[in-house]
Amino acid sequence: MSSTSTSDVLVVGGGIIGLVTAWRAAQRGFATSVVDPEPGGGAAQVAAGMLAAVTELHYGEQTLLALNLESARRYPDFVAELTGATGRDLGYRRCGTLAVALDADDRAHLRELHALQQRSGLASEWLSGRECRRLEPMLAPGVRGGLRVDADHQIDPRRLVGALMTACERAGVVFHRQWAERLTVVRERAAGVTTADGTGLAAGQVVLAAGSLSGRLGGLPREVLPPVRPVKGQVLRLTVPKRYAPFLSRTVRAVVRGSQVYLVPRESGELVVGATSEELGWDTTVTAGGVYELLRDAHELVPGITELPLTETRAGLRPGSPDNAPLLGPAQLDGLLLATGHYRNGVLLTPVTGDVMAHALTTGELPDEARPFTPRRFTAAELTEQPA
Ligand code: GLY
Repeated sequence: MSSTSTSDVLVVGGGIIGLVTAWRAAQRGFATSVVDPEPGGGAAQVAAGMLAAVTELHYGEQTLLALNLESARRYPDFVAELTGATGRDLGYRRCGTLAVALDADDRAHLRELHALQQRSGLASEWLSGRECRRLEPMLAPGVRGGLRVDADHQIDPRRLVGALMTACERAGVVFHRQWAERLTVVRERAAGVTTADGTGLAAGQVVLAAGSLSGRLGGLPREVLPPVRPVKGQVLRLTVPKRYAPFLSRTVRAVVRGSQVYLVPRESGELVVGATSEELGWDTTVTAGGVYELLRDAHELVPGITELPLTETRAGLRPGSPDNAPLLGPAQLDGLLLATGHYRNGVLLTPVTGDVMAHALTTGELPDEARPFTPRRFTAAELTEQPA
């Protein structure tokens, strides 16, 4: 080991989840470090930033819904605090979402979602195709109906992650721009990491927040290996020239032939179109097929997009977990906490994750709203059968 740096809290991973954890830990008075070769990178650089607790509701995910709604509820104060701390505009837009159907199958699917939302006490309104087009005139004439969800907003994840970097720096968080290669375990307690160049970083508590890479840190005992896997998402960015504005005034989404497609319009003129969902391991290639399918489906929804400049194509990796919910708080190894497995909801869950992790670091316990998300809910067998 070449040198040793010591902190109270060492966060492995400098994506949005690692950064919000580090910021909140530093605010609580912990001497905090982040180890990541490129902090501020990761899935947030690709994500569209939908805060879609209601429109992305799925059967069997009622427990996750409660956490998603709690985080959405905290978003306005979180944005105000982070903007106040950094002077940065985060692109938080309380614009709502319109989920539409293009054919009878899609409409049946949307009707089921509407019924589930109603049973869950969520506000959403069924609209005819004509009513959808009155709200969003760029929609295709073939739109058969839709759900208006006024509570599902958006934020610009690139701005969010940039602001979190600044907030961390201002709060005194130290950045080690290196790969964390191996967890150090001393007397059955996590005690830091060794980086790729052999540097030892010692810490009182270690938070593993490395997104889809969280299971790859060497030295993790099998019983604490986080069962996260990469789920690839390809995303496009287009630009709406000023003469076309407003092109869309809210997020528009649909399930087209079984695939999710969404269009997220920013005030800056950026239009984000996402996303594929592919179980292809660590592959982050942007493929002709992925771009074709997104453009084809988006064009069916909003034919005018073919006029817009295509400015970026990119793929990222969602950290999927066995139940699609995050792993938060103390692991089965003293001194080690997890903040990973946020899958499709990392941006949405950022505010509540920061608060939950600060609480766990301070008290050793999870707050009530996060108890169902303890990493200890997975059996040893589930932990060890995940792909390496
Ligand atoms: N939550 C959007 C996505 O993961 O594609």
